[in-house]
Amino acid sequence: MRITPTPEFMLEPVLEPNSDAGTSRDAIGLGQSAGEGLNTRHGTILTLEDISVSFDGFKALNNLNLYIGVGELRCIIGPNGAGKTTMMDVITGKTRPTEGQAWFGETLDLTSLSEVQIAQAGIGRKFQKPTVFEALTVFENLELAQKTDKSVWASLRAKLSGEQHDRIASVLETIRLTSSVNRPAGLLSHGQKQFLEIGMLLVQDPQLLLLDEPVAGMTDAETEFTAELFKTLAGKHSLMVVEHDMGFVGSIADHVTVLHQGSVLAEGSLEQVQADERVIEVYLGR
Ligand SMILES: Nc1ncnc2c1ncn2[C@@H]1O[C@H](COP(=O)(O)OP(=O)(O)O)[C@@H](O)[C@H]1O
Ligand SMILES: [Mg+2]
Repeated sequence: MRITPTPEFMLEPVLEPNSDAGTSRDAIGLGQSAGEGLNTRHGTILTLEDISVSFDGFKALNNLNLYIGVGELRCIIGPNGAGKTTMMDVITGKTRPTEGQAWFGETLDLTSLSEVQIAQAGIGRKFQKPTVFEALTVFENLELAQKTDKSVWASLRAKLSGEQHDRIASVLETIRLTSSVNRPAGLLSHGQKQFLEIGMLLVQDPQLLLLDEPVAGMTDAETEFTAELFKTLAGKHSLMVVEHDMGFVGSIADHVTVLHQGSVLAEGSLEQVQADERVIEVYLGR
């Protein structure tokens, strides 16, 4: 489990793009804002096809097929052990599928990129536990997050800093932490730390955001704000949100995917999947 952001991640140089990554050159973070130039010709930002992951013969994912549209806000629900986190691990390169294909846009093969390359290409992930630097201020956390994928472009920094500063200011507004900008992150509430961590992703301008149980442990007011925030982010970003809180899911999602035993059991509006007999049996009816 990550406690603090990994130093190697912050320091690792930008890698050269794969020679077989097609037209994705701009998407691998060569000083561009993340994801610029990503080829999403057919309106699909993420494609998972026939993905299987075996752990010692046990299939955590089993022929999983899932497609996320550009700008979509997709909720993923399913019982514990359904494979939700493993799916995010596959998308972010943390776990390699035993079988199947995973594409970001039309041309980026996620199964052959490193975790760092995938982050630089424009996929941001928020883990359940906040992983902010408690001793640093809110501003410093955002500043540090912004620099991670630009280290090689130090020479451009002076030129970009006005722009970067504006970006941080705008993210601070978005996550409602402007008035706490100089507070040490350790003094924030649990919910505010979660918002700061979302902000740390946003300053990198990811095209696809993966959020694993974002409202766990939040107050009702914080949960409501998170719903508003996600609805604001959708459209400009694509979001994949794993969440157990059905009230929350109902307030944000127009499209829900139910995972069960490593495969898609049902997909549709929340009303549709809640009415699905198989879903009731394995999940909701419990
Ligand atoms: N590294 C691992 N080694 C062995 N089994 C694992 C590993 N990671 C996950 N699993 C198993 O895979 C299944 C899916 O887990 P997970 O993706 O965490 O489910 P969810 O997030 O939907 O609760 C579970 O049965 C879990 O025990
Ligand atoms: Mg999980």
